Amino acid sequence: MSTSILDRTLDRPTVRPASAPLAPAQDRSPQDLLDAFRTVRAHTEALAAPLSAEDQVVQSMPDASPTKWHRAHTTWFFEEFLLVPHAPNYRRYDDRLAYLYNSYYVQAGPRHARPKRGLITRPDVAEVSAYRAHVDRAVEALLHGAEGSLAEEIASIVTIGLNHEQQHQELILTDILHAFSENPCAPVYDAAWAAPKSMRSGDKVHLPEAIHTIGHTGEGFCYDNEGPAHRELVGPASVDKSLVTNGEWLAFIADGGYQRPTLWLSDGWATVAAEGWQAPGYWQQEADGAWRAMTLGGLREVDPDAPVCHVSYYEADAFARWAGRHLPSEAEWEVAARSGALSDAHGVVWQWTRSAYSPYPGFRPVEGAIGEYNGKFMVNQMVLRGSSLATPAGHARDTYRNFFPPAARWQFTGLRLSDAA
Ligand SMILES: [Fe+2]
Repeated sequence: MSTSILDRTLDRPTVRPASAPLAPAQDRSPQDLLDAFRTVRAHTEALAAPLSAEDQVVQSMPDASPTKWHRAHTTWFFEEFLLVPHAPNYRRYDDRLAYLYNSYYVQAGPRHARPKRGLITRPDVAEVSAYRAHVDRAVEALLHGAEGSLAEEIASIVTIGLNHEQQHQELILTDILHAFSENPCAPVYDAAWAAPKSMRSGDKVHLPEAIHTIGHTGEGFCYDNEGPAHRELVGPASVDKSLVTNGEWLAFIADGGYQRPTLWLSDGWATVAAEGWQAPGYWQQEADGAWRAMTLGGLREVDPDAPVCHVSYYEADAFARWAGRHLPSEAEWEVAARSGALSDAHGVVWQWTRSAYSPYPGFRPVEGAIGEYNGKFMVNQMVLRGSSLATPAGHARDTYRNFFPPAARWQFTGLRLSDAA
């Protein structure tokens, strides 16, 4: 049996520092950190390995970035935030690359326009590999030589850099899937790819009205947006243990879900009209009425028992209204997940919540460019909880707050439903 490239590291399971001061380094020894650095950096290369140089340059829409850009940007992150400030005598690989590979850090200087990333053919793929190797050598030398409080700060930045790179690993997959979906030949990223097995259950998790601590507590890495932990009134609510399936979505389609404006938020209905949505992202209907969907394994028949994927917040919200149900709030999701009773909380699809992405009480981003990681995006986006089939192993947490604009559906996004009692 062939092995999927994803299986190698995605047994089960996007970046940002803890609120003050920087993220804890998970009490890792220098050797553990070095091992983690090598593992994460190698996994990025493994994900890019099936892709040709042409594949790695394409940018299929402004929201999606080329694989080559992801490989270089994650490298720039270590160069900019770790090596330049902390490695004595470090010399940048090429002074021009900071302009190309800074994503959105205003305090780190001017940057290339995001929608134009696909126009950059030079540096080529081989040179990006050389850039990665140059930075890898310098980071490893720094990790070997660091001592005392400097070692602690370095460990903290490396930990953020690794979590950042893991987020981009997921984006490499979501972005190449979007690019391949635009190709009439429907290229296959990984012939051995299989949808993760999901659990079906008609049960619900009942949450009586109570005050709970929400947000990250204790040791271990988290992003700044997961704190400060705070007390919040949750419930009463009942959260479905199972994710919404393709079969349930087919019933929504058959019942005119995409044709009935009363089911939709105003912005959502405008998006349905503008985009011509009639089904989840990547779905296409054959002449005989059967549905197929573009996946990392190419075009596959839509499995009615599998969780629905590639739906936007607008669609999730309309589906919940059609079903006479709700999306859970992010606090409800967190409490239900912490109880251990949710099926597929992690590793299948990110789950839309009805919570707007806003700061927890008392949230303050850290000083400096790295504080731009999460805080400046806290408007006009919705929170997703859990993790997806493309989230790297070890990257998921019950307190993790992913966020995307309500029309986005190229990520691996689905939903579970809840009731307000
Ligand atoms: Fe980034």
